[in-house]
Amino acid sequence: MRITEAKFAGSSVRAADKPGRRLPEFAFIGRSNVGKSSLINMLCGNSRLAKTSSTPGKTKLINHFIINDSWYLVDLPGYGFAKISKKEREDLRIMINDYIQNSQEMVLLFVLIDSRHDIQKIDLEFIAGLGENEIPFALIFTKGDKLGPNALAAQIERDKEILLEQWEELPPMFVSSSETQMGKKEILDFIQQYI
Ligand code: GTP
Ligand code: MG
Repeated sequence: MRITEAKFAGSSVRAADKPGRRLPEFAFIGRSNVGKSSLINMLCGNSRLAKTSSTPGKTKLINHFIINDSWYLVDLPGYGFAKISKKEREDLRIMINDYIQNSQEMVLLFVLIDSRHDIQKIDLEFIAGLGENEIPFALIFTKGDKLGPNALAAQIERDKEILLEQWEELPPMFVSSSETQMGKKEILDFIQQYI
């Protein structure tokens, strides 16, 4: 699939307040700074679409982008960002859960994992919650340009082993880089099957 048009369609804090058109949604979540907004920009071929930052905690709202006038990419705030108040963290947690659990149009949630490190406890807890709530998800290992090919493959194998301690089957998985466009075709072709 090719993205020919990608436009910002609005921000919200609750699933009930999202943009009016009911279209399939594909959402992106993961630890703060894992590269959600950069990946959305890479997929859309527009580096200025979603705001990115080297400082964690940039995305604080649920941002909808309308793609080819027929479906949405949804940029969610990151989880696990330590440097905010307890209240702010709780508000974000509620916002994320409300969207994930109440968004009828969400077809699939992409959970982003930093490919440079072992998948972390907070990621495992988050995806365990998805399993409990029967939320369909896929994993994307981000920043694939930062490791050499052998180290990258070895890290992903390790993560699969860690996941298999908790899961009987592995979810669909992708490796991406917003620098080199690694994974772009695979992720867009995967989305295409659902729309
Ligand atoms: P929050 O909105 O704060 O939760 O972060 P985010 O997950 O949206 O991350 P964002 O896309 O803002 O990227 C965070 C930092 O990582 C930025 O400095 C990006 O340039 C960098 N980054 C993101 N993706 C990649 C990648 O694939 N390769 C490299 N080398 N850097 C990346
Ligand atoms: Mg972001």
